[in-house]
Amino acid sequence: MSNHLPSSLLETNPSDFPGLDVYAVAGNPIAHSKSPVIHERFAQQTSQAMHYGRLQPALDGFAQTARAFFAAGGKGMNVTVPFKLDAKALADVVTPRAQLAGAVNTLWHADGRIYGDNTDGAGLVRDLHAQGITLAGQSICLLGAGGAARGVLGPLLHEKPRSIVIANRSIDKAQALQALFESLAKECGVQLSVCPIDALGSDDAPIDLIINATAAGLGADSPVSDAVAKRLFKPSAFAYDMVYGKITGMMQQAIHHGCRVSDGLGMLVEQAADAFLVWRGAELGKALDARAVLADLRRELTA
Ligand code: ATR
Repeated sequence: MSNHLPSSLLETNPSDFPGLDVYAVAGNPIAHSKSPVIHERFAQQTSQAMHYGRLQPALDGFAQTARAFFAAGGKGMNVTVPFKLDAKALADVVTPRAQLAGAVNTLWHADGRIYGDNTDGAGLVRDLHAQGITLAGQSICLLGAGGAARGVLGPLLHEKPRSIVIANRSIDKAQALQALFESLAKECGVQLSVCPIDALGSDDAPIDLIINATAAGLGADSPVSDAVAKRLFKPSAFAYDMVYGKITGMMQQAIHHGCRVSDGLGMLVEQAADAFLVWRGAELGKALDARAVLADLRRELTA
């Protein structure tokens, strides 16, 4: 724990909250993060005495800030863009699902060690289930082959869909991801394949669930052309964009073709719920109402 920031330089300094367990979300930028509001609500629902704040490490200073936070008594940390790989490198112990995801979004400090987990994929699955979407036996198209796609692929495979096609602009990245998950896919009995995005929908096999894990939703663009959208989005399908707070280009295309759609706000809340339960104990799950928190956030975002 040497060579870290003096804790007085932390925006959220655990020493300032005597008697409370202190958590924080770390990202850069971090000012607009919804995590403090979400965790504050979870703490109220489950009667936990804790404080949850924000940290904005320098772009090259994540490890230094995280070590200072834990050295000052911090209990746990959520990690967001761009630090999920740094968080994995920092953790002394990494859970199997974080290992598979190649990234860590949840850290905690216990027995003098830093533990790392990843709740992003579990959050996506929890949100889909809460929206009444069955995954077992379904055919899924995962758009993208970067860190966001890798983060959710393991939990999706564990749900035992019939098939998952990884569709990406650059096919080599999709193939690399397929190779990484090949043995898990076999174990789960899932047919895992790859496809260039532009070739999607050229066969007759309908896709039940399309998940956008590309960075395209962050801008106004959709990762799929209108010609592909026409083949891909059937009225019986469900289209999910991991970006939240707006109707993305992909969602607009899907709506145009009669699909049900969702943004990723529910995934944000559910990954936070999973992290909260990892930290505070799974038995609190009964008292925690993530959907009520989601409904409030949705109202705020659309107000
Ligand atoms: P992240 O960690 O958010 O997943 P990343 O690792 O940079 O970020 O991956 C970004 C993903 O979005 C990739 O799958 C990328 O496709 P390529 O591998 O072909 O680059 C995809 N992506 C980004 N912008 C896109 C766009 N405009 N259209 C289609 N795919 C896009």
